[in-house]
Amino acid sequence: MIARPATPAARIAVALDTPDPARAAAWAQALAGHVGVAKVGLELFAAAGPDAVAAVRECGLPVFLDLKLHDIPNTVAGAVRSAARLGVAMLTVHAAGGAAMVAAAREAAERAGADRPMILAVTVLTSLSAADLAAIGVEDAPASQVLRLARLAMASGADGIVCSPLEVVPLRAALGNAVPLIVPGIRPAGSRADDQARVMTPAEAVAAGADWLVIGRPITEAADPVATAEAIARSLGA
Ligand code: C5P
Repeated sequence: MIARPATPAARIAVALDTPDPARAAAWAQALAGHVGVAKVGLELFAAAGPDAVAAVRECGLPVFLDLKLHDIPNTVAGAVRSAARLGVAMLTVHAAGGAAMVAAAREAAERAGADRPMILAVTVLTSLSAADLAAIGVEDAPASQVLRLARLAMASGADGIVCSPLEVVPLRAALGNAVPLIVPGIRPAGSRADDQARVMTPAEAVAAGADWLVIGRPITEAADPVATAEAIARSLGA
């Protein structure tokens, strides 16, 4: 399984959000050596599937396949087995799929042996407000629901948690230092927020206790993606 990042650059998981596998592979190729992980999300996977993963893997970076799986345990286990065969290092499932589903994902991942993908649990989507949660029957505050789902996921075999920057401190306090935290919603000082509402700078998120930082558009849409990734790594210190 992929080790927790040991250098500033290794903390950066660049989100290759494009439907074009050649573009994604070119980004990954350019950024290898300057970031730690290449993230393939739903846009790229729906467009180009396993071929896109293979193209991105050629750059040598570990691949994070962000499919946010959420289905019955048997189906999720099958999807994890298929994803593991693609040689990905990280894979996401929704904690809201329940304890049996997360456990099935972990068990299926284990079958891939020592190089198995890390199973990361997504708690509450950062796009959901308290009102959105109430509308789907979750009356608790978003922070309580995040903590409930993170505990459930870790108790069911998840290897780490995906959370917003604002949840890093409470999750670290509740779960301790052993739990890897992967954090999107990162914006270097001075860059556009885009559609991310609750953001932190890379240095703030690491100071709060984040392990990996998921960063997409601030790097991929920069005039010089490599220089931008290097500047972000520098901002994280030695
Ligand atoms: O371009 P940007 O830096 O906003 O990209 C963030 C990436 O992190 C996207 O690929 C998005 O799907 C992902 N993500 C997120 N919020 C979550 C989970 C994943 O923004 N809660």
